[in-house]
Amino acid sequence: MNAVHMDYTPGYVIINIYINEFGGEMKGNERFYILAIGFIAFMILTTGCHKKAVTKPDGYSEEQVELGMALVEEWKCSYCHTPEIAGPEGTLIPDPDRLFSGHPEDEEIPPIPDMVITSPEYLEFLDNLDTTVWATDNRIVFTANLTPDDETGIGTWTEDTFIATIRSGQHQGVGKRIKYPMPWQELAELDDQELAAVYAYLRTVKPVSNKVPESIVLFR
Ligand code: HEC
Repeated sequence: MNAVHMDYTPGYVIINIYINEFGGEMKGNERFYILAIGFIAFMILTTGCHKKAVTKPDGYSEEQVELGMALVEEWKCSYCHTPEIAGPEGTLIPDPDRLFSGHPEDEEIPPIPDMVITSPEYLEFLDNLDTTVWATDNRIVFTANLTPDDETGIGTWTEDTFIATIRSGQHQGVGKRIKYPMPWQELAELDDQELAAVYAYLRTVKPVSNKVPESIVLFR
């Protein structure tokens, strides 16, 4: 099943073919049975499809979604925006259940050492951060939830909002400045079609409810 276009309802098509082909010769109760069978088929098929569908049907083509997926891989969005879990033989792998959901809200932030950036303690602190937490000279930043969750992700964002965010380096194109190391300056060089494709792909990932914490200013 194509995960992007779920507008086709096979049950409905079946009903129509039956009615158009045989409807003329059918008696009332035969027509009723055909309709009933068609309706049941329709319910089974559409329920099945909706369970599998991981996306809102935004009307993007498969090509757009594929281009978006390729760009997202090329730019390694997942490296920063997906929490990792233990994989085989001590490796870390992106958590398939939390793809693109940003820094986990329930993960404890290691205590921030009150010391100079070049001290061994601070370097050790940096070493222990995972790829959803980043430290700059004056801040700890947490990667954003890019899943289509309405409350905590970018579910309510339109394509325009997304493009405006990347182009301006500001939340939704008007809000807070997006901090390092989010590579928005480089991404802003992609054309509208490419950024729309990235957005289209992000619509297809599973919505994850995860409220990412605000960045923390370090007073040192
Ligand atoms: C090197 C790590 C890194 C990479 C790679 C990365 N990001 Fe980010 N991204 C971040 C961080 C950190 C933030 C949060 C910045 C902040 O809090 O100001 C962020 C924020 C964002 C935001 C802003 C969300 C908001 O609510 O304003 C969007 C959108 C975004 N990233 C999309 C992407 C996309 C799409 C890609 C890949 C094409 C990507 N990011 C690659 C680290 C990264």
